[in-house]
Order: sequence, then C-alpha cells, then structure tokens
Amino acid sequence: MRRLNVALGARSYPILIGAGLLEEAEAVATLRALLPTSRVVIVSNTTVAPLYLAPLTEALRKVDAGVTPIILPDGEAYKTWESLNQIFDALLAARCDRGTTLIALGGGVIGDVAGFAAASYQRGIPFIQIPTTLLSQVDSSVGGKTGINHPRGKNMIGAFWQPKLVLADTATLKTLADREFSAGMAEVIKYGLIRDLPFLEWLELNIDGLMARDSALLAHAIERSCTNKAEVVAADEFETAKDGGRALLNLGHTFGHAIETGMGYGVWLHGEAVSAGTMMAAVLSQRLGWLATADVERVRKLLVRAGLPVVAPELGVQRYLELMSHDKKVVDGRMRLVLLKALGQGVTWADAPGAEIAAAIEGCCHG
Ligand code: NAD
Ligand code: GLY
Repeated sequence: MRRLNVALGARSYPILIGAGLLEEAEAVATLRALLPTSRVVIVSNTTVAPLYLAPLTEALRKVDAGVTPIILPDGEAYKTWESLNQIFDALLAARCDRGTTLIALGGGVIGDVAGFAAASYQRGIPFIQIPTTLLSQVDSSVGGKTGINHPRGKNMIGAFWQPKLVLADTATLKTLADREFSAGMAEVIKYGLIRDLPFLEWLELNIDGLMARDSALLAHAIERSCTNKAEVVAADEFETAKDGGRALLNLGHTFGHAIETGMGYGVWLHGEAVSAGTMMAAVLSQRLGWLATADVERVRKLLVRAGLPVVAPELGVQRYLELMSHDKKVVDGRMRLVLLKALGQGVTWADAPGAEIAAAIEGCCHG
C-alpha cells in the first residue's frame, strides 16, 4: 500500500493507493479510525454498486460500521440537482445526523455529487472518497472540488469540501471499460504537460504497458499523478493564486468543458473532451510562439497512443467562444486559458488574442 498526504493544515488527509485495499485490513482500519460514529452512508451508482458495494459493506461490517446505501443512476447526465436531492431525501429519511460519514464509491461523477451533498447536508458532514475509475483515482477524488452541472455550464454549482481520506483500490480498474480507461489517461498526461517533464517522458516510454494495464506501471502513474495533484492543491487550495496555481490543473478544460456542454453531457466523456481541449491549448501555445511544431506533435502522438481523440467536434468557433465565456476562470470578462510555455511548464494566460484562440479552435476541429 502506497501512502501520500495532502497537506492542508487541519484539513490534511491521506491518500492510500494499492490493489485490493477495499478488503485490506490496514486500509479498512484507517478508514474506520476516521469515522466519528459507526454510521456510514455509501453513495454509488447502478454500475459500480453491483461490483463493489457488497465487499465494502462487508469489510465495514467487520469493523462494526453500519452501512446505508444510496444508489444513483449512472452517467454524467445525472450530475444534477435531482441526484443531489435524491441523496438529501435518503439522508433525511434515514435520520442521518452530523456524525454520519458519507462515502463516495464510484467515478468522478459520484465523487463530485456525493461530495457536494456531504458539503451541504446539515452544513457539512464527514466525507470519504473511494474512487473506482482511473480518472477519479488520479484526479477528481483529490483536492475537494465537488459539485454538479448546470445546463449552461459544467460544474457550475458546487463547493470546496475536502475528504477525510482517499482510498484508491487499483484492482477496481480491472472492470473499467477501455474507453473510460483512456479518458483517465488524459488527466495523467496533463500532469506531465503542466509541471512534470520527467513524468511526461516516462509516460512516452511506458504508454503501451499502461494501456495494457500493467499493475506496477499503473501504480506508479497513479502515485505520481496524486503527488502532483496534492502539491498543487496544498499550494493553492481554493484556486485563488493570480498566476498559475491550481488553475493549471485545468489544462484543456476550458475548451473541453465547451465540448461537454455543447455536445450534451455524457456524449463526449470528460477525459475525451480534455484530450481534444489539450490539443487546442497546445496548438494555441504554438501560435503564440512557445511550443515548436515537434512539441505539438509529441502531445498529439501521446494522446493518440492513449486511445484519446485529438480532433474536436465542429460546434462552430462562435459557439465554442460563447460556451468558454462561462468558464470559472473568466475574471472581469477576460478569459484566462491554461497554456504551455514549454512541455512540462503550464501557464495561465489572459492575453491570447481572440483571433489566435479562434484559429486554434478551428484548426483542431479538422482531422
Ligand atoms: P464517471 O464517474 O462517469 O465514471 C465513468 C463510468 O465508469 C461510469 O459509467 C461508471 O459507472 C463506470 N465505472 C466506475 N468505476 C467502475 C469500475 N471500477 N468498473 C466498471 N465501471 C466503472 O466518470 P469519471 O471519468 O470517473 O469522472 C468524470 C467526472 O469527474 C466529470 O463529471 C468531471 O467533471 C469530474 N471531475 C472532477 C474533478 C474534481 O476535481 N472534482 C476533476 C476531474 C474531473
Ligand atoms: N481538476 C481540477 C482541480 O481539481 O482543480
């Protein structure tokens, strides 16, 4: 079992990474020790619950914790007020009090919705993340961003609410569909691009083994991703840094969120949209004179080898710009984009000329 720490003062917490942790005594004991009472509510969905709810419930029962399950429908299209209310209804019906711990068992959608429920139920109850997708194990379970989508924009309603523990059982990735696995790789590659050139080079060397889900390579990639995320979050928990900071984790996301919203939630997976958005960011960085053509090709090649799309859907440049104008990084009407000064060196940039942004979008919508 690998153990990392997210250093946030009184809100610090461990990340445990390893195969079989859902049933491993040390991991379950760590979880149990964090519960203020024996009361646990597990939020999962109709795909993940049949796979992993029973072993987790049994492991918790063995340490005298009682479980109430809440099972949501599966999919990005359900990251909504309705799902949030379904959780609140169930918590109230079960008379859950502030000593109840809410556990998210699933991918980023479950983690984000359940985390927001934990942040707001009775003004906040303890929360634990048990991520079961690659994307959630390397990114969404760490850092405390929680929320739901609005028809006008991704993740527009939410709260910062840190978990007490992230428990990533890498054995759960065995049942993950190939398309979902690739989607997670988009966020792994992101860390290399924004701040960790040696990791990017390691990914280029090992991408085939990773795509074959070699367990040692995967454990390394997850640990390195979480280490990067933990460092960034510890330095800028609430994304208030003027330059760089936590906003860098959104490489490709402003473009990508436009794709997700514009296509309809769930049509393009989050990681797929981030991949096409990362290409837009790389091409724009080249247009600004920061990346060489060979750098952009390296980015494209790695994304393609990870099974990810590099050609974006043709929403029309104006529609892209309109959707991007809702981004949370927009300040005083100025769009702040995450771009690349070099491979391994992300930057937040508010001065990209509109014509260059439009040209980068247009250029990435054709194969
Ligand atoms: P997801 O939660 O929709 O999971 C993908 C699919 O895999 C779903 O159908 C799910 O039921 C299924 N699944 C989950 N675990 C499985 C397993 N072990 N075996 C088989 N199937 C399994 O998608 P995701 O990619 O995990 O997360 C995407 C979401 O995360 C987006 O909503 C995105 O906005 C959010 N996100 C949040 C943050 C954050 O910091 N909070 C960061 C990145 C992404
Ligand atoms: N995924 C972006 C963040 O956690 O800040």
